[in-house]
Amino acid sequence: MAALNYREIRKDFPILQTTMNGKPLVFLDSAASSQKPQRVIDVFSDYYRCRNANIHRGAYRLSYEATDLFEHTRNRMARFINAEAPECCIFTRNATESINLVAYSWGNANLEAGDEILVSEMEHHSNLVPWMMLAERKGAKLRHIPLTDDARFDYNRLDEVINAKTRIIAVAHMSNVTGTIHNLKLLAARARSVGALFLVDGAQGASHLRVDVRDIDCDFYAISAHKMLGPTGVGVLYGKKQLLEEMPPFMGGGDMILSVQKDSFKPAPLPNKFEAGTPNIAGVVAYTIALDYLEKVGLDNIHAHEMELLRYALEELERIPGIILYGTRELSERGAVISFNVDGVHPHDVGTILDEEGIAIRAGHHCCEPFMRKCDISGTARASFYLYNGPEDVDALVRGLRKVRDIFGSAVVG
Ligand SMILES: Cc1ncc(COP(=O)(O)O)c(C=O)c1O
Repeated sequence: MAALNYREIRKDFPILQTTMNGKPLVFLDSAASSQKPQRVIDVFSDYYRCRNANIHRGAYRLSYEATDLFEHTRNRMARFINAEAPECCIFTRNATESINLVAYSWGNANLEAGDEILVSEMEHHSNLVPWMMLAERKGAKLRHIPLTDDARFDYNRLDEVINAKTRIIAVAHMSNVTGTIHNLKLLAARARSVGALFLVDGAQGASHLRVDVRDIDCDFYAISAHKMLGPTGVGVLYGKKQLLEEMPPFMGGGDMILSVQKDSFKPAPLPNKFEAGTPNIAGVVAYTIALDYLEKVGLDNIHAHEMELLRYALEELERIPGIILYGTRELSERGAVISFNVDGVHPHDVGTILDEEGIAIRAGHHCCEPFMRKCDISGTARASFYLYNGPEDVDALVRGLRKVRDIFGSAVVG
């Protein structure tokens, strides 16, 4: 584990020093939400202790300073993903809201009956349901990128689903179930070739991979801060400037207007046009610290560390009889998320037994019901890794899974 010193990193995360069910916490559910370093927690609480004021409105020093801190994060975010300008980064509540913003604002203004929206069966519901709702509103058609048996996109079959009617392609950067990392540059080029837009659901991508939205050449990139060491209730929508400028507002209210008459209004310029109402100011301010932390450790180092963990975990899990692994073994195309089942045992039972050992994993459909159905399973157990995990966490998982097998005895094949 040379890429980064995860033992030192762990010291920055107070929750990792705690116990669960009387055992040291082994946290393997960062794909759902990451833990937070002390400094993020401090800046969050310091904001409420010493700096709290509403932004963009007060004619007093505290409000100016709160506004500066808030806008500082926007600048920071723009640098983090190499956006062309800070105003291309819209603050939302989460990746889900970011995607809904596009589906409503761009979708309502631009889609017509018969148009096609291209997604995949591997998408999180957050990148599926907003498009289903849009298709329903507009009489548009949802199409799906064909998948290979090992949960990758079948890039050889894109011609079957991309055509002149395709108006937008919306896919995850990295799957929250199998960890599959998709070929975004190829998909962006294919979208461009038919005049379609390209949206990336970066809820998993931005926390684990270095993101350069201009290099990807995506039109939109959706982010959740809570999956990347930041607070809950903060998301970002990156959009190309011209597109965002042309799009109508999503929600109406304070802050998103230039002026309001008795019967009409003029929307504010970017980014305020899309930021109606008082945002999660403390969360946005603390998010800067999360971005600083990730950059200081280095996204490339984080990825390398996670890949070593992934390799080790897959090797160890494969040695346990009765473990069924999902996703590709092509490690260059996946990140550190492992979905698995223990043959004959419901994933919730796996989760419960591991919980007794202090091991936190996820069990269920992971908000990907269509993909579960495609695999003909009701759900999986899922272990996901981050910069603060080490090989001892994998060892604890393996011990826990051997206990699952012992408890379920003959029900488990192998
Ligand atoms: C791939 C993916 N997309 C979207 C989301 C939704 O994120 P949020 O609930 O923060 O909006 C998640 C959350 O797990 C996810 O993994």
